[in-house]
Amino acid sequence: MLLSPTCIINHSKYALRSIIDFKPTLLHNTNIINQKLLPKIIINKNQKFNYSIIQTVKLNNNKDMKIVEKLYREQTLSDNELKTLIETKNIEATQLLKKYADETRQKYYGKKVFIRGLIEISSYCKNDCLYCGIRRSNNKAERYRLTRDEILTCCKNGYNLGFRTFVMQSGEDGFLTDRFLCSIIREIREKYPDCAITLSFGERSYESYKCLKEAGADRYLLRHEAADPNLYEKLHPKKMSLENRKKCLFNLKELGYQVGAGFMVGAPYQTTEHLINDLRFLQYLQPHMIGIGPFIPHHNTEFANNKSGTVELTLRLLNIIRLMFPKILLPATTALGTVTPNGRELGLQNGCNVVMPNLSPVKVRKKYDLYDNKICTGEEAAECRGCLNRRVKYAGYKIVSERGDYAF
Ligand code: SAM
Ligand code: FES
Repeated sequence: MLLSPTCIINHSKYALRSIIDFKPTLLHNTNIINQKLLPKIIINKNQKFNYSIIQTVKLNNNKDMKIVEKLYREQTLSDNELKTLIETKNIEATQLLKKYADETRQKYYGKKVFIRGLIEISSYCKNDCLYCGIRRSNNKAERYRLTRDEILTCCKNGYNLGFRTFVMQSGEDGFLTDRFLCSIIREIREKYPDCAITLSFGERSYESYKCLKEAGADRYLLRHEAADPNLYEKLHPKKMSLENRKKCLFNLKELGYQVGAGFMVGAPYQTTEHLINDLRFLQYLQPHMIGIGPFIPHHNTEFANNKSGTVELTLRLLNIIRLMFPKILLPATTALGTVTPNGRELGLQNGCNVVMPNLSPVKVRKKYDLYDNKICTGEEAAECRGCLNRRVKYAGYKIVSERGDYAF
């Protein structure tokens, strides 16, 4: 394939980068092809392109396209290939990756988008994750805990709005005993037998997870956060252990939960190698759901001045994850919608098939303050639902009122 002049001009900054990355062995083979390229290219007098640069772009583009094809075909790549793909600036490869991600999600889930009603039941937390706005040591955080009745009212409202999955999430709050949680789960199960119950209460014992499962819970979300021990240590206090987090995930799987893991994109200190490590861990765990969203700083944490993860890198990883785990349940996260206004729509067009609107009472929404400028903290559930309907439709997909289980 020959590059068009505009394409070459668009790629000029990448061409320079390609020279740096260029392998001298490839240079020898470029002359003949360069001659073929000559008549096709009109170069502006201000742009002194060296044809070997053009050819380098072409070869690198081909290489990146081949990596995308391989991922689509084989659902995995070597570490080097993953690194190339995560970092590529090649527009054609990026477009092809997105196209394959969307084709794959449509192969298993059509245009369906599953909605999960998120109920943030407590903002108390005994943990102190360095990046998190509701961490224990943030003494400016306003704490709240929903009552049993408030939680059940959220479910009632949600059911009437068409939700068939309820996700109860919280900080690690000692008040949330097995007894309290099990009785709520039992009641939701009894009242809404056609709904799935998802939990996200952090790390608990095997026995606790067992109890909650027996009470009627179906799924559990526990992002592993960072599969690399050094990165995990930099993001968490000494007391927390990656080993335990991973063990919890395997315990949940063993107990028969549909399990969700995941990580933040663009977290402080995170490199491409860390991301590859995260993908490898996910391949090992084989979860049913993967939650990834950009890291966003919170003003009362030590990462207040760090940059947010980018939309581009998040979409790139969503594409890759869809191709590595074709049947995965993959949410277009609120964090993605926070870093850019149409973030969730972009997520849906890049492999996602789930959205998680907020069902929590409006009076507490702002208090579940994980990161700055979190969206959807002012609207009633019904408004959120209406807004999301329009957004999903605009993106070309369709919200369905189903449990939305993993396509086993
Ligand atoms: N306590 C439960 C747990 O540990 O899994 C659930 C609540 S926790 C706040 C939910 C998720 O929020 C975390 O897994 C983390 O990835 C994400 N999160 C926390 N702080 C964030 C930030 N500053 N930017 C983006 N995501 C964040
Ligand atoms: Fe506990 Fe964030 S530190 S929920």
